[in-house]
Amino acid sequence: MKNFLIAGNWKMNKTAKEAVEFAKALKAMKLENEKDVAILVPFTHLFSIADALDGSSIRFGAQNVHYEDSGAYTGEISVKMLKETGVDYCIVGHSERREYFNETDETVNLKLKKLISSGITPILCVGESLETREENLQTEFVESQIIKAFDGIDRVDVNKIVIAYEPIWAIGTGKTATPEEAEEMCRFIREIIQEIYNDSVISEQIMVLYGGSMKPDNAEDLLNKPNINGGLIGGASLKLEDLATIAEIASKI
Ligand code: 13P
Repeated sequence: MKNFLIAGNWKMNKTAKEAVEFAKALKAMKLENEKDVAILVPFTHLFSIADALDGSSIRFGAQNVHYEDSGAYTGEISVKMLKETGVDYCIVGHSERREYFNETDETVNLKLKKLISSGITPILCVGESLETREENLQTEFVESQIIKAFDGIDRVDVNKIVIAYEPIWAIGTGKTATPEEAEEMCRFIREIIQEIYNDSVISEQIMVLYGGSMKPDNAEDLLNKPNINGGLIGGASLKLEDLATIAEIASKI
C-alpha cells in the first residue's frame, strides 16, 4: 500500500476567520484518511487552525520559514516560532518564493536542515519552467535542484523530507502535466535520491507528490501512478468539496 499526502497550499488566500470555518467543516466531514490530509496556511492563521483542528488527525503547516534561529530579520519567522504553533509541515522552495522572494538552492538547503532538526516535515518543491521544458532540459534542472537541496543531509534524515514536483508551467494555469509526465519525473526524482544515497529503500520510501492544477477530475489518474504519493494542491484546495473529493479519491487507491 502506497502512503499518501493530500496537502492544500493556500498561498495568500483566506482570512483567519475563513480559515477556521474551513478547518472546522473539514474536520466535521470525518474523512477516513484525515491523517493523510494537510492544509498549509498563512502564518497568522496557525494558532487558530491548531485549535480548530484539535481532536482530528488532519495535519497543518506553514508555507515558509527562515533558516536562522533569531535575529535582525524583519518580517521573518523562525523554526522555533513555527514549532510553538504545533505545525506538522512547512513548504520550502516553492517556485513562487524562488521567483518573487529570492529563495535560492542554498537557502532551501539551510531551511531543510533547520526544519529537520526541529522535527517539522519540510515539503521541498522542485520543478522546471516552461522555457526549460521546451528546451527539454527538465531532468537536468530538477536533478540540480535536488542535489543542491540534499547537500549535507544525512541518510537517516532523507525520509523526513517530502518532495513535491511542481512544474511551473502547470501552476495556476489549469494546464496539468499528463499523468505520464508527472509519473516520469517523480520516478526520476527517486532515481536521483537513489544515486545520492545509494540506497533503494530510501528512494522507494521517500514521499514524492505532484503539484500543478490538480483537481477532482484529474486527481485519480495522477494519484494512481505508482511513483506519485499525493498532491500539493493550490486553487482546488481552497474549495472544501474539492479538497475532500481529492482526499476521498486517494483513500480508495
Ligand atoms: P495550483 O493547484 O493552483 O496549480 O497550484 C499548485 C501549487 O503551486 C501548489 O503549491
